[in-house]
Amino acid sequence: MKNKKSVAAAARNETEMYKKEQEQATEDAATTLSQYFMFIVAMVTVVYIGFHYQEMSKDIESNFFSLHDNCGNLENKHNLSYYQYSLNSLKLLGSINVPTTGEVTDASYEDPQSWILNGDSITKVDGNYWYIAVDTDMSGISGDMLRSWFENVNCSDMYRWWHPRDHVWGVWVEHESYNPSTSLVARQGMIHRVKEKIGGKMNKLDIFFQDPCVGKDCEVLRTQGVELVLSGKIHVYLTPIGRVYGGFFIHTLRVDDSGSTLHSRFTMGRDVHCLDNPDSWACFSLDLFQWFVKKIMLSEKNARNIFIHCKEEMYTLGRLIARMNNISSRE
Ligand SMILES: *[C@@H]1O[C@H](CO)[C@@H](O)[C@H](O)[C@H]1NC(C)=O
Ligand SMILES: *[C@@H]1O[C@H](CO)[C@@H](O)[C@H](O)[C@H]1NC(C)=O
Ligand SMILES: *[C@@H]1O[C@H](CO)[C@@H](O)[C@H](O)[C@H]1NC(C)=O
Repeated sequence: MKNKKSVAAAARNETEMYKKEQEQATEDAATTLSQYFMFIVAMVTVVYIGFHYQEMSKDIESNFFSLHDNCGNLENKHNLSYYQYSLNSLKLLGSINVPTTGEVTDASYEDPQSWILNGDSITKVDGNYWYIAVDTDMSGISGDMLRSWFENVNCSDMYRWWHPRDHVWGVWVEHESYNPSTSLVARQGMIHRVKEKIGGKMNKLDIFFQDPCVGKDCEVLRTQGVELVLSGKIHVYLTPIGRVYGGFFIHTLRVDDSGSTLHSRFTMGRDVHCLDNPDSWACFSLDLFQWFVKKIMLSEKNARNIFIHCKEEMYTLGRLIARMNNISSRE
């Protein structure tokens, strides 16, 4: 009796083991198959891009970055002196102290109060995207002065005064959603089309300015000394994909007894997706290789480079706007 039972049990065990082995084998086969599939897609994509790269990047140049910009006489009169002045600002600033990167499970940028918290930081949120905070002393600068800069910087010479080393080319393009309001939020619906280097690498960007206050209580910021908010989505031109959503930023200028501070906040690499041809082959690949794209976009090095770039461009901008407005206290 006892023997029979254990024989039956052993047989059952064996059947189960066999079943498991079968399942494992099926799973392995599926994994191998999908790996093959991924490999083939990758090869086809590489070949496709190889053949079309030149032509595609030329298309982007001629369609989006061929606008002729002209600063006019007024700006040209100051061209060299402002350019040199900002080069000198960069020298004064010297090398940047980049904060050590941390990890958090929640970035609280949804709440406007978080836009004016003090402190520099680089944090990876949920292991998934970067939240970068950069504060800049802008003593003497008012919301109107900063607004006026952003409304007028529509030519490359002027754009280069802002950051002589990184800024290369830039004009404004009016989108149909443009709202010329003089509220707290400036440039809503305008696109700043630029070429700028970040970490030495050239980027072609559409910075699409938005109202970050929709559905939020921003009015309370006014009572706390906030004089201007600038916020935009960062659309990156990538060959051969077209425009890809990369992240967004919020710059908040707060003026109080201790002076003016610009609080800059970036959220990068969250919800990366194609904007132009979501059904295209290239976008399909972007989705498929999201992990890879994110690995590049989300590298710690890139987050640190964004931090450095922002520190530099806002420091030089504060000094430049002070100079343009004859504010001598900052000399
Ligand atoms: C900025 O300059 C470009 C190039 O000259 C021009 O096409 C565009 O209309 C200008 N934008 C604004 C908002 O003035
Ligand atoms: C303005 O200055 C820059 C830097 O020196 C120079 O490259 C550019 O040609 C100048 N533009 C004009 C219109 O003089
Ligand atoms: C700054 O001073 C210069 C020279 O005195 C003057 O031409 C210019 O209009 C002043 N700018 C402002 C914004 O007051």
